[in-house]
Amino acid sequence: MKFFIDTADVKEIKELAATGMVDGVTTNPSLAAKSGKKFLDLVREICAVVPGPVSAEVTATDFDTMMKEAAVLRKIAANVTIKVPLTPDGLKACKTLSGEGVMVNVTLCFSPAQALLAAKAGASFISPFVGRLDDVGTDGMALIRDICTIYKNYAFKTEVLVASIRHPMHVVEAAKIGAHVSTMPPSTLRQLFNHPLTDKGLKAFLDDWAKTGQSIL
Ligand code: E4P
Repeated sequence: MKFFIDTADVKEIKELAATGMVDGVTTNPSLAAKSGKKFLDLVREICAVVPGPVSAEVTATDFDTMMKEAAVLRKIAANVTIKVPLTPDGLKACKTLSGEGVMVNVTLCFSPAQALLAAKAGASFISPFVGRLDDVGTDGMALIRDICTIYKNYAFKTEVLVASIRHPMHVVEAAKIGAHVSTMPPSTLRQLFNHPLTDKGLKAFLDDWAKTGQSIL
């Protein structure tokens, strides 16, 4: 499973990229706004840190303007992935851009039918939002299961990019289902490393080692 981080905080991206666990980055207009930076500069900066796909979202809602925005964004770097909303215009833009060989991430997916449309439009990634579904009392992971089944049935190449992840178990469940990518907040990626028994075990080993008075170096 690939790990993307869902943030526009360049400091966090640099720190986590150094762990070797970051395969890509997703941003959205809310995260970009929170960064306080100029959007195009921000995307350029992130693309220079992470060589994998970096999702930059269009903010227009009509096809023509989406295409103009995509033209600006795709010029920034070869790893820019154009993110479009799951709307008729967004899917039309997806189909056109995919046909031109551009990576497209279709975002705000909340149903298997929507995911099927995105795959037919040639999306590189579909982003189903599991956390936001859980928030309204719907099983977000059930959507991931359905999409993975449908994509497998027809051998679609679109990768399932599990989004709106809230905690490590979302990542684990998505991996058990076989989703291709999880995009998660930096805090969730950090949590994946942790287990209290690892800390406890390491402390005991080091305490015992210290008693020997030896040093490997
Ligand atoms: C995905 O690309 C989105 O940016 C993101 O995962 C949304 O997460 P949220 O529901 O926590 O805002």
